[in-house]
Amino acid sequence: MPLLRDKGLQLYLKREDALHPLISGNKFRKLKYNLLEAGAQGKDTLLSFGGAHSNHIAALACAGMESGFGTIGVIRGEELELRWRDNPTLSLAHGHGMRFHFVSRSDYRKRNDPDFIERLRVRFGDFHLLPEGGSNVLGVQGCEEILGSGDARFDLICCAVGTGATLAGIANASQPHQRVLGFPALKGDFLDRDIRNFVRRGRWDLVDGFHFGGYARVDRELVEFINRFKKETGIPLDPIYTGKMLFGIFALIKEDKIPKGSKILAIHTGGLQGIQGMNLSLGKKNLPLIDL
Ligand SMILES: Cc1ncc(COP(=O)(O)O)c(C=O)c1O
Repeated sequence: MPLLRDKGLQLYLKREDALHPLISGNKFRKLKYNLLEAGAQGKDTLLSFGGAHSNHIAALACAGMESGFGTIGVIRGEELELRWRDNPTLSLAHGHGMRFHFVSRSDYRKRNDPDFIERLRVRFGDFHLLPEGGSNVLGVQGCEEILGSGDARFDLICCAVGTGATLAGIANASQPHQRVLGFPALKGDFLDRDIRNFVRRGRWDLVDGFHFGGYARVDRELVEFINRFKKETGIPLDPIYTGKMLFGIFALIKEDKIPKGSKILAIHTGGLQGIQGMNLSLGKKNLPLIDL
């Protein structure tokens, strides 16, 4: 790209989205050790939490089916009980054997309360519990495998941030000369604290200002960026995470905030299954659609 040449930068994209057609990107990494642990404990069912367009819910259903586990998705929003078939993510998960338990937003906020979990056990029997997004110590352990030995040549590693577990795994696996930049996909000052719980080492920072108003908020400028990027590179980006991250990286480059000569590695963490659902809501708002 001319901009990269002009600024004397190299930008590589690690295609974690290509790991598996449905268990893609960081989801593959976060599920790996969780499923191994569930198997080791003799569990036959996996239960986790997510919203209507959750990449984690879609990946959990597929991974459960491929690995011989039953799956239960505790889904935010009681109203979806009647209309989940219109939702591409939930239809995909159901097609891979997931059972749903729809809960109100206030109940969903209790998802980490021991009493709430106990009630789920009474209702569904024993299960291996994965937190929202698969973001626990085992999920972070899997994300430590995103970087390989060949990635030591990069100075700067960039990833999108939801819960921060992916960033923590990358930071734990980074080299002393590397810096990790996380681009939050949502508003909130809780992230820094959450990430510190999981990070053991590494130099990392969050770059605010590219969440486009909050989680799953998307505007015309972002959609046009994603479509242009796909046209120029052939690489699809999701609008909730990787699209915002790359938009942010290019903004930093244009503002000369990345030192000349840097070798940047951006991680494509997947999430492409969410495009269809996002296009349904973009269509309703008369915004341009993301090219599939
Ligand atoms: C596609 C994609 N990229 C990035 C993230 C952010 O990962 P984390 O929650 O570990 O910060 C998520 C989900 O949470 C995701 O689905």
